[in-house]
Amino acid sequence: MIAIAIAHSNIALAKYWGKADVAGNFPAVPSLSLTLDALLTITRVEFDPTLGADSALLDGEVLTGRPLSRITTLLDRVRERASIGFFAKVESRNEFPTAAGLASSASGFAALALAATRAAGLELPIDEISGMARAASASAARSLYGGWVALRAGSPGAERVAAPDHFPVAMLVAVTAAGPKAVGSTEGMTHTRATSPYYATWVNHAPVLFERVRDAVLARDLAALGPAVEQSALMMHASMLAADPAVIYFLPTTLAVIARVRELRAQGTAAFFTMDAGPHVKVLTQKSAAADVATALGEVAGVKRVIVCRPGPDAYCLDPGLDFAQAVERVRSGAGP
Ligand code: DP6
Repeated sequence: MIAIAIAHSNIALAKYWGKADVAGNFPAVPSLSLTLDALLTITRVEFDPTLGADSALLDGEVLTGRPLSRITTLLDRVRERASIGFFAKVESRNEFPTAAGLASSASGFAALALAATRAAGLELPIDEISGMARAASASAARSLYGGWVALRAGSPGAERVAAPDHFPVAMLVAVTAAGPKAVGSTEGMTHTRATSPYYATWVNHAPVLFERVRDAVLARDLAALGPAVEQSALMMHASMLAADPAVIYFLPTTLAVIARVRELRAQGTAAFFTMDAGPHVKVLTQKSAAADVATALGEVAGVKRVIVCRPGPDAYCLDPGLDFAQAVERVRSGAGP
């Protein structure tokens, strides 16, 4: 009753922000993301009849409180689905190039959902596993799939829009600060929904941006995609800025990177920014321009590093006979799905 799963992080091009149903964790808006190859989570789950409780280790730290209860809630769903009563030992590692508050619940809950269902002996269709991940953290639903992925409002699981190699782009992550974010996304979106007069406008307009993003992705049209991506991010942040009190993720370096992206564009480089519930800026550009854009972003004062990502693969499992250290080694040595 052991499984080891790998899932990659994703960055939304059409953003999810706000829940239609808090208890079931259903998003209020449709979203579309790109799964990234360079940011991933490795998770090993072992159900064991001798255990007296669930336990979880993340990057070597024992989890307690809410981080642990979010995991046990997902494990409870898996236990119910598999009709088993055993507790589980979870070990997980974020293979992100830097500990800069980039660690994402998306790859984490996607890897957990896949590893836990497999360890429980369930061979579920991927969209059902995606639905389990969504109930834990909605953006995690998208990380079960590689490439370009949509999560519709009200839909249990995510769906593939296009394969990773559909469109030769790169996503550059400009790291602008160290340490974890101040306000988590769940808390930030709940507060926005409760207090921002712009929230309703965001929810009404997000489907229009989702359609623009999806059509541009399918048409491989970066010139059409970029402006819709930027509007989705800025409109989401506008809804937070209008909350009471405001939720502000922008730092001076965030704005400097955004300004640099606009300058690059004025000089003829197709580069477009997006940002999430944190101060880092993610820049979408053509694969062929990635090295030059990464150099330009790295020169902005305050940028700590730039991580170059390409479209990443579906979540997958490794041989459950490996111990955790061997699994990490296997992934680091470039073993893929
Ligand atoms: C800004 O998926 O972390 O990254 O469902 O409450 O766990 P919960 O929220 P989460 O929110 C992600 C918000 C975002 C945009 C996005 O990924 O679509």
